[in-house]
Amino acid sequence: MCGIVGYIGNSSAKPVLLNALSTLEYRGYDSCGIAVKNGSIAIHKDTVRVEVMQLTSPALDGTVGIGHTRWATHGEPSSINSHPHTDCTGKFAVVHNGIVSNFQKLRQQLTKEGHVFSSETDSEVIPHMIEKYYQGDIEEAVRAALDEIEGSYAIAVLTADENKLVAARKDSPLIIGVGDGEMFLASDVPAILDYTDRVIYLEDNDVVSVTKNAVRITQDGVDIDREEHRVLWNKEDVQIAGYDHYMIKEIHEQPRVIRDTIGDFLLSSDAAKDSGIEIGDDLSTLSIVACGTSYHAGLIGKYVIEELHGIPVRIDIASEFNHGRRTIRPSVAIAISQSGETADVLSALKRLREESVKTVAITNVPGSTISRVTDQAIYTKAGPEVSVAATKSYIAQLIALYQLALSLPGMNRGIKRSLISQLKQMPGKVEQILDGTCGIVSCAKFLSKHENVFFIGRGINYPIALEGALKLKEISYIHAEGYAAGELKHGSIALLQENTPVIAIVANDNTYDAMISNIKQAKARNAPVIAVASEDNEDIQAMVDYVIRVPRTGNMFSPVINAVALQLLAYHTAKFRECPIDFPRNLAKSVTVE
Ligand code: M6R
Repeated sequence: MCGIVGYIGNSSAKPVLLNALSTLEYRGYDSCGIAVKNGSIAIHKDTVRVEVMQLTSPALDGTVGIGHTRWATHGEPSSINSHPHTDCTGKFAVVHNGIVSNFQKLRQQLTKEGHVFSSETDSEVIPHMIEKYYQGDIEEAVRAALDEIEGSYAIAVLTADENKLVAARKDSPLIIGVGDGEMFLASDVPAILDYTDRVIYLEDNDVVSVTKNAVRITQDGVDIDREEHRVLWNKEDVQIAGYDHYMIKEIHEQPRVIRDTIGDFLLSSDAAKDSGIEIGDDLSTLSIVACGTSYHAGLIGKYVIEELHGIPVRIDIASEFNHGRRTIRPSVAIAISQSGETADVLSALKRLREESVKTVAITNVPGSTISRVTDQAIYTKAGPEVSVAATKSYIAQLIALYQLALSLPGMNRGIKRSLISQLKQMPGKVEQILDGTCGIVSCAKFLSKHENVFFIGRGINYPIALEGALKLKEISYIHAEGYAAGELKHGSIALLQENTPVIAIVANDNTYDAMISNIKQAKARNAPVIAVASEDNEDIQAMVDYVIRVPRTGNMFSPVINAVALQLLAYHTAKFRECPIDFPRNLAKSVTVE
């Protein structure tokens, strides 16, 4: 996971590198570092956040450099283990995102040959390998080193001898930002938005050499062209805009995100046909693979598609997909991934593609690896999401899945019309939750004093219980379990007592009466209950301790409204507990290791 950047141009490299790194901290933030060349290479690295390094780093002169923000895999977060790493001579500095899986063998060999290592990282073998093979041509040396390296990498290499950057990628993202008289390397687009909107997406096995005016891309030493693209995101999208945290900013963007994601779909006269969603003729069995919050979106997608079309949808946690025995071969597989870079999803896709299954990506990041390895990509319009906790990207995924379901052939026209009209109302309904506090802040204050919480849901809102729990635990560090409400009594009810709040998602559908029974069961064990219920539910108040009121919607779309309410609940709870909301401990937004 980790973020890497590079700069070569006429400006001072240090502020550019640190500014670019600050936009990549969602990829890892346990330490950071930069290397700048001015004749020799000077390095500054530490276990601090980028904003601290911006204030404390010494003057490093030079107009070419590289930088890194780390999510530790090999070796604890420490100054020594931070990147950039160098060889014995200090002539080569390298930043790396990925994992060198054969590093132990390489390190033993290099040590025998006299190389001295200072860190515990896998990455440090890379500059030593480059040193080993360098004979006056840095690109050749990088190529020779990479030939022996197994695993995944995006690297940027700075050399004291030449005024250029060399970079390469395999199974980890890397882009080039093309400026006027300056060039940038980065793991992701937000890093370059302050400087340019021109981008080249690199492909696996590309080796690239960058000077301030030119880019040379090769594969196996042969020159190749890669198309330059204009980035649609702009720098305002990654600014905090006066909010306390990116998470709350991104929660507040959701009405816009829904509007943008459904935009073209609703404009067309035959909404389903012209949606741009064409997943093939054979739709006998669908499969969904995803991780984390995206998996929770997939669970709702499964429910909606099965409900509307009767098509069986198998859903797998991507990291489990490759281990399980497969009894059916799906006709189409849908990979859901906000970042489009998640390693577990990519390895599931690899297996699906080997089996010649048609694959469709639902992703938020144009040009991402997943969007390029699937047969079709459906882009959600969330814009860049900075906070590690997925919020607007999740809502955009739900909307894309609704559209997908509405696009499949064979739907009753009346039902489709009615659902599309409900879909149109969703931005307004979400605005309603955002405008009023709906009792959320007082519930959050109450919740913030507890250490164990259950979220319970039923039917289409069961995945919302899972997502509500995930959001709460990742940003507030409160232990939370998402449960199918009916399952509680089969074991976990043993944990309910007066200090174990239960958050019950009360939907106005055929699960209502059963959920009321579950609430009564929790109350009978003295557990405080917070109900998430529609604004017109007059009975609920008397049965529970707190009510979070949400606008009434059609049953199919209630997950959207309930998810937003639970995002706000998690946010305010974490705020009361003074947690680092946007950058929770141990996490990274883009999970590029298996
Ligand atoms: O980028 P992806 O959607 O593939 O990421 C998958 C998960 O890592 C992600 O959804 C994670 O669970 C959320 N950031 C949690 O809020």
